[in-house]
Amino acid sequence: MTVKTVSFVKSSGKWQECPEPTLPEYAFIGRSNVGKSSLINAMMNHKDLAKTSQTPGKTQLINHFLVNENWYLTDLPGYGYARVSKVLRRDFEKLITNYILNRKNLVNLFVLVDVRHEPQKIDIEFIEWCGENGIPFSIVFTKADKLKPNAVIKNVESYKNELLKTWDSLPELYVTSAEKKEGTDEILKFIGKTNDFLQQNHVRFDE
Ligand code: GTP
Ligand code: MG
Repeated sequence: MTVKTVSFVKSSGKWQECPEPTLPEYAFIGRSNVGKSSLINAMMNHKDLAKTSQTPGKTQLINHFLVNENWYLTDLPGYGYARVSKVLRRDFEKLITNYILNRKNLVNLFVLVDVRHEPQKIDIEFIEWCGENGIPFSIVFTKADKLKPNAVIKNVESYKNELLKTWDSLPELYVTSAEKKEGTDEILKFIGKTNDFLQQNHVRFDE
């Protein structure tokens, strides 16, 4: 899919404040600082559409972007950010889980994990939670440019093995680098194919 147009729609502090759920929506989620906003910018070929930062906790609201006038791309706040108070962290988690459970037009969640690390408990738990709640998701490994190709392969394999401990089959997996713009076309291709399918089947979300 080619990105012809992209515009920022709004930032929302509650799922009820998000744009009307009339178009298919794809959201990026993951730990704070994993690279959600950077990957959105790389995918959209834009330098600072979504705000990025070296300091975790940059994205604190739900940010909607409208792509090609026919689907939404959503940048969510990171989960598991340790350096805010417990109350604030719980508020963030509530914002994220309420959004995921209530957003009628959410077609797929891209769960981002840093390819440099061993499977982290917080990510595995979040993935399990998606499964328990029937949320469709894919896994996106980020920051692949920070490792040698062999190490990337090794870590992806170990992640697959971890998932296979609880899942019968694996979700779609993408290996990406926002820095090198790798893996972004594959994600866009998946979104394009899914949008075509939804359109051919006259799927509506707002009923
Ligand atoms: P929050 O909004 O705080 O939850 O973070 P985020 O997940 O949106 O992360 P963000 O995109 O702001 O990136 C965090 C840091 O990682 C920034 O310093 C980015 O430059 C860096 N980063 C993100 N993606 C990549 C990548 O693919 N390669 C490299 N080398 N650095 C990256
Ligand atoms: Mg962000």
